[in-house]
Amino acid sequence: MAKVQKIKGFADLFPDEAALFTHMERIAREVFPRYGFGELRTPILEKTELFQKSIGEDTDVVGKEMFTFPDRKGRSLTMRPEATAGVVRAFIESKTHQPGKVSKYFTFGPMFRYERPQKGRQRQFHQINAEIFGADEPQADAELILMLRAFLNSLGLTKLTVELNSLGCHECRPAYKQALTDYYKSKDKNLFCEDCRRRMDTNPLRVLDCKVDACKKLVADAPVITDHLCSECEAHFADVKAILDGAGVSYELNPRLVRGLDYYVRTCFEVTSLDIGSQTSVAGGGRYDGLIKNLGGPDCSATGFACGMERLALLLGGLEAAVPDFYLAVVEDAAANEAMLFAQQLRDKGLCGEVSFSGGSMKSRMRAANKSGARTCLIMGGDEMANKTITVKDMVGDREQETLDRALYLASL
Ligand code: HAM
Repeated sequence: MAKVQKIKGFADLFPDEAALFTHMERIAREVFPRYGFGELRTPILEKTELFQKSIGEDTDVVGKEMFTFPDRKGRSLTMRPEATAGVVRAFIESKTHQPGKVSKYFTFGPMFRYERPQKGRQRQFHQINAEIFGADEPQADAELILMLRAFLNSLGLTKLTVELNSLGCHECRPAYKQALTDYYKSKDKNLFCEDCRRRMDTNPLRVLDCKVDACKKLVADAPVITDHLCSECEAHFADVKAILDGAGVSYELNPRLVRGLDYYVRTCFEVTSLDIGSQTSVAGGGRYDGLIKNLGGPDCSATGFACGMERLALLLGGLEAAVPDFYLAVVEDAAANEAMLFAQQLRDKGLCGEVSFSGGSMKSRMRAANKSGARTCLIMGGDEMANKTITVKDMVGDREQETLDRALYLASL
């Protein structure tokens, strides 16, 4: 019979890899609350219109990459392609915002984008996400970058590049868009890819983000946003940079960084690495004032970021496996039940280890004990059963073996 296989671009996480993910979550849970963040869990499935209204109809994510389907009553639902839109929706629905109040949330979980799978790019991937609501100040953007750095440093990742830009605001961006449009007009339209020919009119900034080589070359000399910022945006950006400078964060200014989602204004950033293949972006984020209001909420500013956990996992490689306390080798089948009950007593004392269930020679069981990496090998056979003893072999030190009274051994632990 044909085997049922997993869906393309989706992955199973077996214990070694799952341990890495748990480790990242544990570090985030340790670091983020130091900055006043609390955990929020939102649904994986949302109404499609939430993403259309927030991420933007003309983005790759909404236009090409969403897992969208009708539910049993024909309502269009989407597997979240990112967490921000859902977090904003939850925040609006909670009605907890009051003027002057700052709310900070982090969230983990699977996201879904129908992209071409490759190293570091999957259709189901995981993000660690952080958002601040209610703070216009550049200090909030800087705090996020400092928190992201603290998180990455705690994971042992120190050689990453921070790319930084300001995308301007609703005041200054229109003039920049016009400058871009004029620039595109000065080029032969047919040299751009089909998507960019359309984006030129609908969303000129998106062209800067195109991955097609020909388009990349064509925009190399395009006007840059940082030459078009209004004085407020310029002052805001200067403060973000000053705080990062003060904290010793090294960053590269990249005036072409526009990010793949439409909701950003002012600060935007990406953390990149050249050590994980062609998908270099490990984390990305920025400010998105205006989105909460656009989705029917209060006039409340917002800024945040998300890290891709698969990409962090690639950078981390692996974790050292925990060393088990014992391996209990049953060397006579009749002793198997008693061995299991003894192992339970050890585990009740907080020790971790395994019991060899059955089969194999004494030699193969000792080999299994060795392979387990356990500190101690315990041996239970007919003699140990009859005498209520346990044979204890030290596997890390002198490799001495002795037979002890079982109750006394337990009491000594
Ligand atoms: P994003 O840049 O689309 O931003 O995604 C953030 C991170 O998710 C990327 O830097 C990357 O590490 C990871 N990622 C994205 N797509 C994939 C994929 N197909 N496979 C593996 N990893 C992937 C956002 O999602 C924004 N919501 C971030 C944000 C939060 N902005 C403000 N608040």
